[in-house]
Amino acid sequence: MRSDICYLDNAATSWPKPPEVAKAMCDFLETSAGNPGRGGHALARAASATIERARSDLARLVHAECDRRIVLTHGCTDSVNLAIHGIFRGPMCRPACGSKPHAVVSAVEHNAVLRTLHCFEEHGILDLTIVQCGEDGLIDPDDFLNACTKRTTLACLSHASNVLGTIQPVQEVGAGLKERSPCALFLVDAAQTAGHMELKTCEWGIDLMAIAGHKGLLGPTGTGALYVGCCAYPDETDKPHLFCERRGGTGAVAPGLDMPQVLPDALEAGTMNAVGFAGLSAAIEVLPTIDHAHEQALIGRMLEGLQSIDGVKLYGMPTTAGRTCSIAFNITDKPARDVAAELDQSDNIAVRGGVHCAPMLHEVIGSGVRGAVRASPSPWNTVAEVEGFLAAIDRIAAG
Ligand code: ALA
Repeated sequence: MRSDICYLDNAATSWPKPPEVAKAMCDFLETSAGNPGRGGHALARAASATIERARSDLARLVHAECDRRIVLTHGCTDSVNLAIHGIFRGPMCRPACGSKPHAVVSAVEHNAVLRTLHCFEEHGILDLTIVQCGEDGLIDPDDFLNACTKRTTLACLSHASNVLGTIQPVQEVGAGLKERSPCALFLVDAAQTAGHMELKTCEWGIDLMAIAGHKGLLGPTGTGALYVGCCAYPDETDKPHLFCERRGGTGAVAPGLDMPQVLPDALEAGTMNAVGFAGLSAAIEVLPTIDHAHEQALIGRMLEGLQSIDGVKLYGMPTTAGRTCSIAFNITDKPARDVAAELDQSDNIAVRGGVHCAPMLHEVIGSGVRGAVRASPSPWNTVAEVEGFLAAIDRIAAG
């Protein structure tokens, strides 16, 4: 593993991965790499067991009612697409709840959500309402709920901003949604919170939750999941449920040309990324050992240090309360990408610079197309690395 890089880009993907991840993936390839669910021989059975273990680990993590309500995907964007296409292309979208379906999202959303919904809006399939947030990236839950009507089919909110780290009031929205919009499903994008904080899908009124395996959960890229609650996919298969656009083999006994109707097979077509999920299970096992207090101390020091540097404009919450590890800022009028490039080339510090796939939020905070520099530490960073980062920012700001 490279020890010369100061890696502060964990909101994009976490690094380094715990050594247990690579080991589990190598072990899988050497001993268990059959096709999960396809075939009864020893390697196929071992691969199936790997998949079911990951499903069970994720179900426990999000407090799902049962393992089969976890649909394994290729990542968070895949999960979001599965949910949104599943609603608006299927029987859930029929006009039982009024005329044209309506979706409500916040201005904080990632393009995984915004572009997917925009596409349906452009094709005249839904009306879209975008709820604004403050400069701190926080939405007012009353504003969000007031935008929801009897016609609302989907309410969608990211749990934490991938730019500012601001944690949204998903519990308040989940608690009030069904009263205002009985037909609405609540989709939460937990890309930036899974692994960082506890996720209580049922208790928080969440119907669908998209999860990335490779960020806070410390697993490999190409892994993710969609939690699918009972309103989104009832046990009784004669009721409206999420539609699966992707069709293909599932491994389940399914003669004929229709997809199986029961979860998770109904939404899982094609061979799973079993080697990736072997790594993800190993990573999830490491999670309880993480020192979150150390991570919070690093975030606090970075926020404090950045605010004391002349020429630095910090966006979002100025303290550690109510936020995850993403810290966004700019230096005077320097392009964010140039700052990131200088940190990379002169200091071996990895951050992300530019527009972070959340264009509406960049408008709200006034950084526009220039975007921002984003630094996102992990529990593996040291105090010395954070001090080195602050010294480099100080030098760039003075230059
Ligand atoms: N969504 C990831 C990010 O925010 C890639 O950087």
